Amino acid sequence: MLTLAIETSCDETSCGVVRDGREVLSNIISSQIEIHRVYGGVVPEIASRKHIENINLIIQEALDEAKVGFKDIDFISVTQGPGLVGALLVGLASAKAIAYGLDIPLVGVNHIEGHICANFIQHKDLEPPFTCLIVSGGHTYLIDVEDYAKYKLFGRTRDDAAGEAFDKVARAMGLPYPGGPVIDKLASEGDGKIILFPRVFLEEKSYDFSFSGLKTAVLNHLNQLKQREEEPDIKDVAASFQEAVLEVLVEKTFRLSRETGRDKIVIAGGVAANKGLRNSMEERGKLEGVKIYYPSPVLCTDNAAMIGSAGYYNFIKGVRSPLDLKVDPNLGFLE
Ligand code: KG4
Ligand code: ZN
Repeated sequence: MLTLAIETSCDETSCGVVRDGREVLSNIISSQIEIHRVYGGVVPEIASRKHIENINLIIQEALDEAKVGFKDIDFISVTQGPGLVGALLVGLASAKAIAYGLDIPLVGVNHIEGHICANFIQHKDLEPPFTCLIVSGGHTYLIDVEDYAKYKLFGRTRDDAAGEAFDKVARAMGLPYPGGPVIDKLASEGDGKIILFPRVFLEEKSYDFSFSGLKTAVLNHLNQLKQREEEPDIKDVAASFQEAVLEVLVEKTFRLSRETGRDKIVIAGGVAANKGLRNSMEERGKLEGVKIYYPSPVLCTDNAAMIGSAGYYNFIKGVRSPLDLKVDPNLGFLE
């Protein structure tokens, strides 16, 4: 089955063609990061306008690169939410028009599920069940993947998402948007043991996360230095912050894999591109006999191929969306 996939939930206009949920024939990503960087974050109105300008071109490019035409497509996969309402609307309206015009099924996809499925594209041998940590710019979830498109929620963030914490701390340090990749690089050159920022584990048995206290601790540290007219060593601050985030993420993920008896841990979402996170997970995985999976960096951040994969696994389960499907900017994931 061939799906044409469309993803426009934030600041990437992306379209791709995916065969049977795992084989990527094309995955075109037009990023708006340079446009939004001037403002220090994504400006929703600008994002929507850019999606409108780009979407038809990107769809055509995705078909061309895959060497297929509209007539070869069996169904359309599109992000329904969560995301920016105006941005989502552009993708969904395009998807509906194509599905209607070709008289083929439409499958609305949860963006978070797409991030998980990026791993099925990357690792052809990966099969459920496994423990999955999803860490993106807007969401943080710890789940058990029992089967394809069958999930059980164990933990989520109670305030900021992991990626959001990276972005906010980077902004306070005067670093460009998005902050995650910049902090990742600085952290690799700094000493994470220099400043002891808080590790927030919450209640003893909880799988939830909280990152806003850590963010405040970093801001306080920077402010105290400023008052004393001292310059922060941004490499050490980045490394110490990152280590505080990673320690909690790794600890809780391994606790869940132990309790559910899983021998595979999968990480997904933009923060899964973080080298420190990948290394910590792998080191711990070796000790505990757990295999670690993550997508290549381009499949970690937003892209249409992952939506095509998630669309496929829903399609073969019989999911079909009506042509009056609405975007849902606050679409929950298992909540
Ligand atoms: O998954 P994604 O593309 O968008 C959402 O669905 O939210 O994730 C973007 C987030 C941003 O917060 C960005 O700073 C973070 O992923 N990110 C990283 C890295 N690369 C991207 N965070 C830490 N280390 C990285 N290398
Ligand atoms: Zn995303």
